[in-house]
Amino acid sequence: MATPGDATRPAAEGDLPDLAALHLAAFPHAPWDTETLRPLAFGAGAITLIAPGGFILLRVAADEAEIITLAVAPADRRRGLGQRLLTAGLARAVAAGAAVAFLEVAIDNLAAISLYRSAGFVNAGRRRNYYTRPSGAPVDALVLTRDLSA
Ligand SMILES: CC(C)(COP(=O)(O)OP(=O)(O)OC[C@H]1O[C@@H](n2cnc3c(N)ncnc32)[C@H](O)[C@@H]1OP(=O)(O)O)[C@@H](O)C(=O)NCCC(=O)NCCS
Repeated sequence: MATPGDATRPAAEGDLPDLAALHLAAFPHAPWDTETLRPLAFGAGAITLIAPGGFILLRVAADEAEIITLAVAPADRRRGLGQRLLTAGLARAVAAGAAVAFLEVAIDNLAAISLYRSAGFVNAGRRRNYYTRPSGAPVDALVLTRDLSA
């Protein structure tokens, strides 16, 4: 049976408005517009995969893959799309030479932390006051990492 993630494909520049709309849906307090997304999504080392309802953006440098963002629209959550985008993105990163993946996530983002842990990511550190909430309150980030060479 077809599922939303089956349609995951590399994004093209023509997808920038959809990427911005998905980012806004997933991060309503810190949206990235098309001009912010363009160099991240299509610059050196960028891997950007889009599917109906979500996208993932990674950057590979040498043997490291950084997950820059992962966004699933609220209406499409808890159907495995985030997990499928992550799996597909990491597979592309490995093909591009990555041996390790890492990311930062807010310590109170339990949905994302749960998703990454179930995908094998482990704690690698903590960055104090890494994010700022709309209220101005600082929030720490967890650094999570996963060995991709095994
Ligand atoms: C985090 C996010 C990408 C998850 O996307 P999703 O498509 O809902 O995730 P999946 O359906 O693939 O979930 C996979 C697993 O992650 C965990 N998970 C996902 N959402 C969860 C939630 N709200 N609460 C607890 N666990 C959750 C579960 O273990 C889930 O498996 P299960 O549904 O079988 O229990 C999505 O909630 C989102 O876009 N959030 C806002 C943006 C964001 O925080 N991005 C990550 C920044 S690093």
